[in-house]
Amino acid sequence: MKIAIVGYGKMGRMIESLGAPRGIEVALRLDEFNNANFEGITPANFRGIDAAIEFSTPATVVGNIERIAALGVNLVIGATGWQGEMDRVRGIVDQSGIGAVWSPNFSIGVNVFFRVVAETARLMAREPGYEAWAWEIHHSAKKDAPSGTLLKLVEEMKRAGYDRAVDVGSNRAGAIPGTHEIGFDSAADTITLRHTARSREGFALGAIRAAEWVRGRKGFFDFSQVLFG
Ligand SMILES: NC(=O)c1ccc[n+]([C@@H]2O[C@H](COP(=O)([O-])OP(=O)(O)OC[C@H]3O[C@@H](n4cnc5c(N)ncnc54)[C@H](OP(=O)(O)O)[C@@H]3O)[C@@H](O)[C@H]2O)c1
Repeated sequence: MKIAIVGYGKMGRMIESLGAPRGIEVALRLDEFNNANFEGITPANFRGIDAAIEFSTPATVVGNIERIAALGVNLVIGATGWQGEMDRVRGIVDQSGIGAVWSPNFSIGVNVFFRVVAETARLMAREPGYEAWAWEIHHSAKKDAPSGTLLKLVEEMKRAGYDRAVDVGSNRAGAIPGTHEIGFDSAADTITLRHTARSREGFALGAIRAAEWVRGRKGFFDFSQVLFG
């Protein structure tokens, strides 16, 4: 399988090194040096590419998606900080007829965690004695806050029927790959649900799995559909 890595930073490099033993050939690498104004996204550069894996920045991801979709190349979208433009991106993918898998977090554990949190929120929706918080901490180079994963966790709580306030907080320090916590507290007790990533490898392996899965598919998919159907 031939892929393009769009955003050749910490994640892009890890995807390259973990993909090689799985037969994934990186035929194109785009970063701020050869794609600052999207000049790297050309039909010639993308000829023969099966999928592009997008881990650039909040400021560049949507522009990259728009142009890669116009070339008819399938996408795995891992960059965060663009969820406010979800409807537009979904429209771009549908109109171009490509296949795209997105997730603010490609670890299998977090995708299970989304479901655990949603089920807890569904039960807590009926218990007004409990108030909720949502918190995350990441390394200090992370550009967006709160993280896309935390935004999705809160969105899953709302979708599960939890319509009371959720107090949201973020910290940035050191080299932490990502910790997310959802809690419910009452006068009687506390429930704390926490996911801790140990390294970036889990995200990279999930993104590779999504790239293999999206081959030959059309439509806009969430990574949880790849994992759980
Ligand atoms: N979905 C997930 O599982 C997951 C997991 C981890 C991270 N993320 C997200 O993925 C993104 C990247 O994370 P990271 O840790 O790899 O960050 P990073 O190390 O900063 O990598 C981002 C790379 O994109 C480059 N870039 C800048 N402009 C570009 C452009 N126009 N086209 C292509 N590339 C461009 C950056 O260059 P410069 O830094 O020189 O500008 C940098 O090399 C972030 O949004 C992060 O939140 C998602």
